[in-house]
Amino acid sequence: MTEYTRSVELISHSPEETLTIGERLGNLLRPGDVVALYGELGTGKTVLVKGIARGMGIQAAVHSPTFTLVHEYRGPVVLYHVDLYRIDEAEVDSLGLDEYIESGGVVAVEWAEKMNLLLPAERVDVHLKKANESARKIVISSRGPRAQTIIEEFTRNAGACL
Ligand SMILES: Nc1ncnc2c1ncn2[C@@H]1O[C@H](COP(=O)(O)OP(=O)(O)OP(=O)(O)O)[C@@H](O)[C@H]1O
Ligand SMILES: [Mg+2]
Repeated sequence: MTEYTRSVELISHSPEETLTIGERLGNLLRPGDVVALYGELGTGKTVLVKGIARGMGIQAAVHSPTFTLVHEYRGPVVLYHVDLYRIDEAEVDSLGLDEYIESGGVVAVEWAEKMNLLLPAERVDVHLKKANESARKIVISSRGPRAQTIIEEFTRNAGACL
């Protein structure tokens, strides 16, 4: 645990609620921010990324980037949606997120555990877990000072609605 670790735990009862959580997170994201998503198949990572896109003011429809590693969604700020599910080890080593981060985009990574130590140290982690068919436990936590600010804003805004 670093001094910058803050976390917020939420229960989503429907895909719509997960979208809303993503949207409120997306609202707070700025160029260079990275969101790492962890969780088994079907836990709602892509749903959450759809919400993030919406919160960032992106109009384009967000899908699972099944056949490409990285999808780019243009909006006021570009969202790079990365899905590492099918990545192999050699590819992981050559995949750098730096160019996306430095280009001033926001990066959201599904199956982030596959990048492990290659993930940037400064990021927001989101762990999703199936509670039952329609409920998901979502834990958002900070890695680093910028992410801590995001979590603090998120929880401040959350007060009334969650
Ligand atoms: N509370 C919930 N939040 C999010 N999705 C939910 C919820 N309840 C049910 N679902 C369903 O779970 C599925 C989540 O799919 P999604 O593609 O987002 O998962 P994923 O974690 O991205 O999976 P993958 O690892 O295959 O990419 C959808 O079919 C959605 O309708
Ligand atoms: Mg997905």
